[in-house]
Amino acid sequence: MNEYILEIWLVSCIVMIGIVIVVVTLQLKYILNKLSKDPNAPAEKSSWWSNFTGLKPMEKEKDIMMNHSHDGIYELDNPTPPWFMYLFYSTILFGIIYGFYYHVYQDGNIQITEYKTDMAVAEKARDVYMKKFANSINENNVSLSKGAKELTEGSQIYLTNCVACHGDKGQGGVGPNLTDKFWIHGGGIKDLFKTITHGVPEKGMIAWNKTLNPLQIQRVASYILTFQGTKPPMAKEPQGIEIP
Ligand code: HEC
Repeated sequence: MNEYILEIWLVSCIVMIGIVIVVVTLQLKYILNKLSKDPNAPAEKSSWWSNFTGLKPMEKEKDIMMNHSHDGIYELDNPTPPWFMYLFYSTILFGIIYGFYYHVYQDGNIQITEYKTDMAVAEKARDVYMKKFANSINENNVSLSKGAKELTEGSQIYLTNCVACHGDKGQGGVGPNLTDKFWIHGGGIKDLFKTITHGVPEKGMIAWNKTLNPLQIQRVASYILTFQGTKPPMAKEPQGIEIP
């Protein structure tokens, strides 16, 4: 609600100004009417239409004729026609209703709500797409990622799931050293993807396809390959065959 305080304040100001304008206008009109009327004149009858248009009949034009002429053309002192004033008041009323509806009660679909709804829809669509995309990766089409964002994702997956057995720097422990050129199950991205996906359960390496989706496996496999040649301290002895 905090973010709307300014708007509520603004709307209140607009409402106040609107009320002041209406009151002042009505008062002025009332006073002017009183001043311009001859108190002894008989009350004149006028139709709603002439009230609405505010036009003086032709025969009364000399009453409102101003005392100057331009080449014989006289100016009439017509007040702003009532229909125009009604239009003006209706815009004030519209503004007040609009302000309350959209900014105070916030029932209306204002920009910020519209934005949030759209973002939520897009987020959902993105999730669906990512799921589809993630599942489209398999051991035949998987490729190595080198982008910083992908590798950061990979490092997070590694830290959460793999450190316990492979060490924080890939130096190895229960599991083999991942920083050297020696691999038991092959050292290409496709080999790693396959090993991580299906695991080597009989040797203590879990099949990760139940915990991670193919995209996550691709990320962590790409990340593991950045360990190559880092020679961390206390590295486990090489296992498997050397893959140049
Ligand atoms: C419970 C311990 C454990 C965890 C957790 C673990 N691994 Fe392993 N991992 C192993 C063992 C043990 C092996 C060796 C399997 C063998 O001897 O065939 C291995 C092998 C591997 C290999 C093959 C290494 C080679 O030389 O071919 C890769 C790649 C690998 N793990 C990646 C991962 C990744 C990625 C994670 C986290 C998502 C992970 N491991 C989590 C125990 C673990």
